[in-house]
Amino acid sequence: MHFIKNCWYVAAWSHELEPGRLMSRMVAGESLALYRTSDGTAVAFEDSCPHRRAPLSLGRVEGDDLRCMYHGMRFAPNGVCNEMPGSEKIPAKAKVRTIPITERDNWIWVWLGDPNRADLGLIPEGFGSDGQGWKMNFGQIDYAANYELINDNLCDGSHIAFLHENTLGKNMGRRFCDEHPTITRLPRGVRVDRNFIDQRVVAPWVKTPDSRVDVLTTYDFLVPGIFLFRTGFYEPGTAARIEEGKLTAPPYFERVDQQAVTPMSNKESRYYFAAAHKLQPGLPEMLGHIFGLMSRAFEEDRVMIEAQQRNWDRYPDARPIVATPHDEAPLIMRSHIERMLAAENGVLP
Ligand code: FES
Ligand SMILES: [Fe+2]
Repeated sequence: MHFIKNCWYVAAWSHELEPGRLMSRMVAGESLALYRTSDGTAVAFEDSCPHRRAPLSLGRVEGDDLRCMYHGMRFAPNGVCNEMPGSEKIPAKAKVRTIPITERDNWIWVWLGDPNRADLGLIPEGFGSDGQGWKMNFGQIDYAANYELINDNLCDGSHIAFLHENTLGKNMGRRFCDEHPTITRLPRGVRVDRNFIDQRVVAPWVKTPDSRVDVLTTYDFLVPGIFLFRTGFYEPGTAARIEEGKLTAPPYFERVDQQAVTPMSNKESRYYFAAAHKLQPGLPEMLGHIFGLMSRAFEEDRVMIEAQQRNWDRYPDARPIVATPHDEAPLIMRSHIERMLAAENGVLP
């Protein structure tokens, strides 16, 4: 199994880690036990007791500590054993490996690599805690597929025209593949900008004077699989004004999506997704509508990507035979991951 270790992975939504409860998570091939101390601080241990390798996720939270419920050794949040039942002395090596962990934008992030390199500045800026009042809905899906197949999917919106012709691509014809987005390589990812100019409004919640809008969308897709998407519905002419560097009126409606693809094993991945918009009168019902549409579309993705994975398994030596111009963003992402893996393994890219 080859995963980048020196990067931040999303291990859970913050609300999943309940006080007093232990949670086991598989992240990039490593099994983790997560819990919160009495003041709510998240802790991540390697899910393996240094005594006889019992999973610590089968243990018990006791105040700030975690007790292994096989033979009772108890560990402080720094991983050091502070009680060894039946023994007066505690050997120095009675210590669990702790994993750097932090919370930001409604996510719990873990760093599996060298703890000295766990730079919080490398966490992408999401929408969860920006204080702008986003109303957010949360979901997740498990895939029986390698995470890079999901990354490919999220980097290439052309599939919306076909795979999602009855959901996300409805009323859009082939525009998602006939019109090409602007692709920009970023230091740790790729930016995809796509505008739909003077578009007829089909979303009933977007209130405009004449039912026409410029829809401006932009997303960053960042290593290892963080997707931060912003959509704004603006008065027609906005896209041109932005290009000319002129001031624009605020959007009629704005929404964001915050998603993360986390590899669990080579062929198991977890996809965290949230949709949000600003709170406005009459909008909560609309968020449910958007979220339902997205969930249906992601199910379409899951069915296709898992089937694609099975095909790769059947023909392990096969390679994609043809490329399309829409492969640019997925290939940029793959090249980042390859480069980082090579650097970690001491191989020059
Ligand atoms: S395996 Fe954990 S205390 Fe024995
Ligand atoms: Fe999709």
